[in-house]
Amino acid sequence: MMIQHEFRGSRNWLFLVLSAACLCLSLAVSAAAQSPSGTAPAAKLSQADAPARMPAKISVQKPWMNRALTPLQRANLLLKQMTLDEKITMVHGVTPMPVKGYVGYVPGNPRLGIPALTLADGRAAVGNGAHDITLFPAPIAAVSGWDVDVMHAFGEALGREQWLKGTNVALGPSIDVVRVPEWGRTFESYGEDPYFNGRMAVAEIKGIQRQGPIADANMYMTMNQESNRFKEDSRVDERTLQEIYLPPFAAAIQEGHVGTVMCAYVKTNGDYSCENQYLLKDVLRTQLKFDGWVMSDWGATHSTVDAAQNGLDQQMPDDKFFGDKLRQAVSGGQLNADVLDGHVRNILVPMFRQGLFDKTQSGSWEANARSKAHDAFSLMVAEQGTVLLKNEKQILPLAASASIAILGEAGSTAPKVEGGGSSAANAPYIVSPLDGVRKRANAAKVTSADGKDIAAAAGVARSADIAIVFVHTAETEGSDRPDLQLPGNQDALVAAVAAANPMTIVVLDTGGPVLMPWVDAVAAVIEAWYPGQEDGNAIAAILFGDVNPSAKLPLTFPVTAAAIPTAQKEQWPGMDGRSLYSEGLNVGYRWYDSTNTNPLFPFGFGLSYTTFRLSHLVVAAGAQVKVDVTNTGKRAGAEVVQVYVGHPTANQEPPHQLRAFAKVQLKPGESKTVSLVLDRQSFSVYESSQHRWSHKPGKYEIFVGTSSRDLPLHTTIAIQ
Ligand code: BGC
Repeated sequence: MMIQHEFRGSRNWLFLVLSAACLCLSLAVSAAAQSPSGTAPAAKLSQADAPARMPAKISVQKPWMNRALTPLQRANLLLKQMTLDEKITMVHGVTPMPVKGYVGYVPGNPRLGIPALTLADGRAAVGNGAHDITLFPAPIAAVSGWDVDVMHAFGEALGREQWLKGTNVALGPSIDVVRVPEWGRTFESYGEDPYFNGRMAVAEIKGIQRQGPIADANMYMTMNQESNRFKEDSRVDERTLQEIYLPPFAAAIQEGHVGTVMCAYVKTNGDYSCENQYLLKDVLRTQLKFDGWVMSDWGATHSTVDAAQNGLDQQMPDDKFFGDKLRQAVSGGQLNADVLDGHVRNILVPMFRQGLFDKTQSGSWEANARSKAHDAFSLMVAEQGTVLLKNEKQILPLAASASIAILGEAGSTAPKVEGGGSSAANAPYIVSPLDGVRKRANAAKVTSADGKDIAAAAGVARSADIAIVFVHTAETEGSDRPDLQLPGNQDALVAAVAAANPMTIVVLDTGGPVLMPWVDAVAAVIEAWYPGQEDGNAIAAILFGDVNPSAKLPLTFPVTAAAIPTAQKEQWPGMDGRSLYSEGLNVGYRWYDSTNTNPLFPFGFGLSYTTFRLSHLVVAAGAQVKVDVTNTGKRAGAEVVQVYVGHPTANQEPPHQLRAFAKVQLKPGESKTVSLVLDRQSFSVYESSQHRWSHKPGKYEIFVGTSSRDLPLHTTIAIQ
């Protein structure tokens, strides 16, 4: 199943939208949630749900209802009262579900006052067939704003709609690093950098959990392809696992305090994720001190005793292995009862921490979760996530008086606003690009053709001042794209339109990178991703300059299919059931840099309608990086300052790696000093021989710029 979400504009605007949204909502809120950066206005939720009031005598009988105790103390008190059957009930879902909606359900326990768990998909909207929800942009679009405050608000918007729908476990975000650009779930991910994904995960998870539901970090781990996903074995060395694939999950757990982690379909180094002792026990519990629960992906459980012994807490969506079979394993002594207690405790602790015992969930699947504020927020997220990749001949922003031809199915008859699979959701409405542009321009001068007849489309393009071709990919969970080409006749369509009209703009509605054989022939290229319900309004705002683009790519676009890190068959889709992670640490831009391969558009890249200058790089004590950013153009805009760290050669790391970033809004002529602190991990490597991270003193290079390939400022620092 699938989902989507989004957001827009200035901080003030955001604050107004969120405040308005919050006023009309009745939500349970944990007091703790803070803006992840500490700078954004924290959305206030006006009305916390009433705590479940317990008569005094029940409180005595149910000492775990004492809110003065810690979640762990409460879980232990409750656990003592539970029968074997009651424990077994908690560690699996039930099918068919006794309730309407949702994708997973664990019955509650009226005797002990344990609430039922209602699980729903939700990466860009509440999924699983829900109606009256907002379709936000795909996560890949949302993160392209490179703004953790946006992602926090994105999580809040999703979490709020989930809670209104009665969901108390929201299945998202998907935080796996994109290793293979053809991966069918690229659109629902955050891109190719471990640090970046970690920052976005923390922000979104805090946003979701602030609104009531427990969030779920998925898919753990090495879920990097859909091809053969139920059997594929990712062969990856320990250092790569720790340095590239684990950091988003580590951040989600240690900083995001995510309540659940979903183990994946695939195997890692021979063992299925959901019974992988190294992943579930050594890493999650011992190394990361995770105290929430691991639930299996839907159908990803393969055994009873092995899975339970090796760290799976809960089977989803049914009881095939964790129902009767688990009960018998415990009664028969094949599984120690303490192991089962541990699983139940792992489930109860985040339930207590999140307040699920202390507040009434008054939402329902039939409820209306929509609001005007969320429609506006969806638009803002789409606008701030739209990446301007090329802009020549001063074609953009457009003049309202121009005559415009909108070409391609995604432009008019079939807007491509979301990806497929468990993220898919029912948009309440979709504004097509044609409608959005007609609203904003002189409607009489806007023509269109769906492009099925290429010659006809070229004719329409020829008679307009400006031709805009909307092209798309159909990405979905369950299958990878066969290659990186635009499907069907779309490359031919763009080439024909560009030949007919040199003032051609291409808008990409894709979930990941595509090849652009026509790129030199067109005047402009925009990556709009899967933009959600406000598609047409968002792209019109960018095209006409109502919004100044400020997004940056969270992954690399290659020049050819051969020039990618995973071009060999044994890497992807794999051979004999195995995918060899032979590129090691060289994932995404790390590979392009270490092999001196030119990308088409690099990681971190994106243009604006204004220009910026970076200057005065200083690295002060405590690895504090300071740099001045100036808007040298004539429009207000935002730039993303990106800090990359180059290790001493002896550390054998990729040439440079993102370790900090910040988005800065600047008026024309304005300058600001950005200050960012590099954390200890920036100067550490994972030592496989010792199975631990190790801080490495030495001379490090600090590069600062506005993409992974545009790093004008540079200095060297000594780390003790
Ligand atoms: C997906 C999960 C999803 C689950 C329930 C699986 O196919 O991999 O991400 O949460 O279905 O819909």
